[in-house]
Amino acid sequence: MDGIQELKAKYLAEVADAGDESAIESVRLAAVGKKGEVSLKMRELGKMTPEERQVAGPQLNALKNEINSAIMARKASLADSALEERLRSEWLDVSQPARPSQQGTIHPISQVTEEVIAIFADLGYSVAEGPQIENDFYNFDALNIPPEHPARQEFDTFYMHRDEGDDRPPHVLRTHTSPVQIRHMEKHGAPCRIIAPGRVYRSDYDQTHTPMFHQVEGLAIDKDISMANLKWTLEEFCRAFFEVDNVELKFRASHFPFTEPSAEVDIKCSWAGGQLKIGEGDDWMEILGSGMVHPKVLTAAGVDPSEYQGFAFGMGIDRLAMLKYGIPDLRAFFDSDLRWLRHYGFASLDMPNMHGGISR
Ligand code: PHE
Repeated sequence: MDGIQELKAKYLAEVADAGDESAIESVRLAAVGKKGEVSLKMRELGKMTPEERQVAGPQLNALKNEINSAIMARKASLADSALEERLRSEWLDVSQPARPSQQGTIHPISQVTEEVIAIFADLGYSVAEGPQIENDFYNFDALNIPPEHPARQEFDTFYMHRDEGDDRPPHVLRTHTSPVQIRHMEKHGAPCRIIAPGRVYRSDYDQTHTPMFHQVEGLAIDKDISMANLKWTLEEFCRAFFEVDNVELKFRASHFPFTEPSAEVDIKCSWAGGQLKIGEGDDWMEILGSGMVHPKVLTAAGVDPSEYQGFAFGMGIDRLAMLKYGIPDLRAFFDSDLRWLRHYGFASLDMPNMHGGISR
């Protein structure tokens, strides 16, 4: 058949020249597509004599196959070079150091809470918790603060809203962690040794007061607990927490409705050049309230005061953090200022452990 060699040469050359997928596709349509040149020639087979057809048929078929395989090979080689080109341009240097990522810090309050927990855990105390929204039984009555008691005013309590016509006494945001004492004894009875760290709320705001702050309550109840045990425990705690051996504490007679006798505790310190140092000088700084749990409180919590007695104390965690880490303004604790957090925050791996605050 005429022209087969020419067709072959022409289309194989076009396939070789095609620079991308769409060029190949146009060559394919022109050659072996429905109306392509080779296809049209195949249609002519019908008009031939059987002898002619026997020669031309296989030739045309071979041509069609040849062009098709050339197209496939060209496609594959184009894909290969595209891949090579990508590999050349999109390489990645896996040995490059990673970009620095922003790291958060542990808030001083979280750090100090963990330190306090670690020290008391070492002394055999476990952690107890209670709700921040309390009812007035746990926050006041059970702690020997009846409704007419002046201490209710002193606390600057936040009261929750009650619906109109609902005459139950309002819930309050707990003003101290002492209600956890009651909840714990009610549930677990005596003896017990717990600390209860957490948020408390009072309507007050200045350099040393914020409406939300943190306390840690301590409670130890057993059959032979005295004020001497309280004194030793608090001294031991302060030595470990402030990391000084010669801590001196002064127990100053005071009054709390829920303890009898009651004592406020001052720690000996010096203020030299605006810097506070614990364990030296002759200034005194109040750090906590404490006392022997009032028999009425034990009774309210279901513990028999003729059998059991014990001590309780409550201290401000924020205050402890300010003293230990020299932070002058309490309000900054809750401003979420990143510069402040980076300056006073702790690295995440700086985790306190049993020895964290006891570097002796
Ligand atoms: N709850 C007291 C306060 O918030 C602190 C305290 C706790 C005092 C336990 C004595 C015993 O001021």
